[in-house]
Amino acid sequence: MNILVLHGPNLNLLGTREPDVYGRDTLGGINEAITTLAAELGISVTCFQSNSEGELIDRIHTAASTCDGIVINPAAYTHTSVAIRDALSAVALPVVEVHLSNIHRREEFRTRSFIAPVAVGQISGFGPDSYLLGLRAVFNQIKKGL
Ligand code: DQA
Repeated sequence: MNILVLHGPNLNLLGTREPDVYGRDTLGGINEAITTLAAELGISVTCFQSNSEGELIDRIHTAASTCDGIVINPAAYTHTSVAIRDALSAVALPVVEVHLSNIHRREEFRTRSFIAPVAVGQISGFGPDSYLLGLRAVFNQIKKGL
């Protein structure tokens, strides 16, 4: 099983970006934890971050023929990107949307996700654990053949 983990814009700044909201873990540290869990589950993961909507979409397209599922933190594109939603819908892989912060207890504009309707589910508010819970969730979905 091969899972694509996508990180959206500004997540490369984790560690120093608004630590009161996003914590002090770096993206490198989060990717390490994801890779460790993947090894425990006996699966492969590819982690990719981009600040560009087009690059994220290109990776989603490639995943159609190379991956079994996607974990995505679309970051600010969550609230704006019909294009990422359409790409996820087009490839028809199981998708879990994750967020470090709880987007439902922040500004009103963050409560709206364009991605949620094409995802199996959303995990929001558990810091780096959101990614690990998301990886387990997509793994279980695929195992169940959903
Ligand atoms: C985020 C929440 C988004 O609203 C924000 O734009 C981000 C990060 C999160 O992980 O909590 O960049 O996706």
